[in-house]
Amino acid sequence: MDPKVITCKAAVAWGEGEELKVEEIEVDPPKGCEVRIKMLYASLCHTDTLCHSGFPVALFPRVLGHEGVGVIESVGENVTDLKVGDTVMPLYLGECGECLNCKSGKSNLCHNYTISNTGLMCDGTSRMSIRGKTVYHNITTSTWSEYAVVDANYVVKVDHRLPLPHASLLCCGFTTGFGATFKTAEVEKGSVVVVLGLGAVGLGAIVGAREQGAAKIIGIDINDFKREKGEAFGMTDFINPSKASHKSISELVKDATGGLGADYVFECTGVTAFVNEAIESTKIGLGTAVILGLGTQINVEINYGALLFGRTVKGSFYGGVRIRSDLSSVFEKCIDKKIKLDELITHEISLSEMNKAYELTKQADCVKLLIKF
Ligand SMILES: NC(=O)c1ccc[n+]([C@@H]2O[C@H](COP(=O)([O-])OP(=O)(O)OC[C@H]3O[C@@H](n4cnc5c(N)ncnc54)[C@H](O)[C@@H]3O)[C@@H](O)[C@H]2O)c1
Ligand SMILES: [Zn+2]
Ligand SMILES: [Zn+2]
Repeated sequence: MDPKVITCKAAVAWGEGEELKVEEIEVDPPKGCEVRIKMLYASLCHTDTLCHSGFPVALFPRVLGHEGVGVIESVGENVTDLKVGDTVMPLYLGECGECLNCKSGKSNLCHNYTISNTGLMCDGTSRMSIRGKTVYHNITTSTWSEYAVVDANYVVKVDHRLPLPHASLLCCGFTTGFGATFKTAEVEKGSVVVVLGLGAVGLGAIVGAREQGAAKIIGIDINDFKREKGEAFGMTDFINPSKASHKSISELVKDATGGLGADYVFECTGVTAFVNEAIESTKIGLGTAVILGLGTQINVEINYGALLFGRTVKGSFYGGVRIRSDLSSVFEKCIDKKIKLDELITHEISLSEMNKAYELTKQADCVKLLIKF
């Protein structure tokens, strides 16, 4: 039987700064190489709040959310490697395996399945509407809806041994920080690592640094609650810069590293001014600053003098993790309990409570908000 239009609940963003509204939307059947997913869990990444503020493009009404897991409800006529009933996660990057970047083995930025900011499917249309009005997708995901239509090229099957909430968490923030420690940078055994900002991205970087055998992992955050979380994941030292306001981040890092700075600094706050601080916190001649945070202010003046002293700056989306070649090894680590993802989940709500989601994430004791459908 051909799939029909589904009427279901979704959290709709109507405009910059407007409260999320849980409303009924229409979700069309999947076309061609698309699948329609019945979402089971989703989560909130800081980038969702940026998108809701209209960054980088103001597309409204829109269903946000780019972390989530669900079961395929129906498939388009050209889908071959996925079937109804498969447990899957939608992602914002694809991996064709054939383009220049995929073939290089060095990048997760596939030329054929790029990060899409059009708010539309690849044929230029949307599969969602509300009261006859087009609803925009969010990258290639839109997980804050009971049903989401996604291009199968951006969908990964989830190992059945992986708890569903953990699969949702692996769709963005945590994997970004974790992957960056061995994909974007290659943290060596014995390294001194600094992680600036201990949200899901930063905590992921702490776990990755630990797994890579870093000797010292210094977490920096203005929220003291993050000390407890950082320590649970392997952080060895903690600095709260708001308690040392006369010193810059790089000065604090130098103080904590015998004046030398760190081998690797992971910027995970999205505070643009910290790009320079991250660079200057690294060791002369050896250090690498990895920029993962994203802020609405994109341009930043780089102190290039600091770069002439032999430092490297890198950045990545999704920590450089390739969705087909690398993600399964991350699943394995979570299944083996080498990574204790439950520690990340501090709050859980149902989709109907999404109007209070942003308020909850502003609470000091919130790391990850899980949404249960
Ligand atoms: N590169 C990517 O692919 C990618 C993926 C996911 C998220 N992001 C970005 O990474 C950043 C982190 O995301 P998240 O979900 O972990 O966010 P989050 O809000 O959960 O965590 C950010 C942390 O930074 C801390 N912080 C904020 N301002 C600070 C300051 N001035 N000094 C010290 N600490 C400060 C906060 O207390 C918080 O613990 C965001 O900018 C997000 O948009 C990028
Ligand atoms: Zn490719
Ligand atoms: Zn994200």
